[in-house]
Amino acid sequence: MGGVGFLYEGKTKIVEAIDDDSVILTFKDDITAGDGAKHDVMQKKGQMCSEITSRLMHYLNTKGVYTMFMNYVPPNKIRARKLKMIPLEVIVRFKKAGSFVRRYGGQEGEDLQSPLVEFTYKSDVMHDPLMCIEHLEVLGIVDRNTALKVIESAKESAKLLKEFFEIHNFELWDIKFEYGTDSEGNICLGDEISPDTMRLRKAGEIFDKDIYRRDLGNPMEKYEVVLGVCQSILL
Ligand code: C5P
Repeated sequence: MGGVGFLYEGKTKIVEAIDDDSVILTFKDDITAGDGAKHDVMQKKGQMCSEITSRLMHYLNTKGVYTMFMNYVPPNKIRARKLKMIPLEVIVRFKKAGSFVRRYGGQEGEDLQSPLVEFTYKSDVMHDPLMCIEHLEVLGIVDRNTALKVIESAKESAKLLKEFFEIHNFELWDIKFEYGTDSEGNICLGDEISPDTMRLRKAGEIFDKDIYRRDLGNPMEKYEVVLGVCQSILL
């Protein structure tokens, strides 16, 4: 396999191989929106998002979900299983918001009658186009069977996280997951789970990246609150 060293740098993370089976993800302090059109650097963001991701993925592991998470390496790194990433964002929605409302109408925060899974193709230049299973098959991104497995896994992970946040009186409106395959071809949850990748609300207040997208103040104060909730999950 690939050996040791730098593999990839994205908008918010750096990936380095440490051996044939694992990588170190370094979470940067960068925050972006609008396919990278808006960009800032916020102190402690990498630290908070890596710790939140570590604790939430560990939580999912304890519930039987196969995730990339191996260890949290404070302050801002995660040792993770090496995956071949599938270039898709898998969004699970419980309530209408964001691009769903722009595409299909309705009010922000309105319930969907059942959880909805959407696939978008990861491409800033194409603005992450929405894809149905037929697109995934015809474009050779994943086969139907893999797509169906990803849908089930995403629904289950989102439900577990929704239930976790409900205990702390937060509402999980929607969440984005990314998947890869391990060296044996198993589908594994990768990337990040943080206020950057979900909509999290409490009593009408916003605790996620919409604060940044909509210029509503300092998002890091709210990320800190989410971190506090996640610290109830012991590593
Ligand atoms: O913008 P949209 O409504 O499609 O976002 C749905 C969910 O997916 C939100 O929680 C958002 O933060 C997340 N998302 C993401 N990365 C993207 C697009 C959306 O984490 N590139």
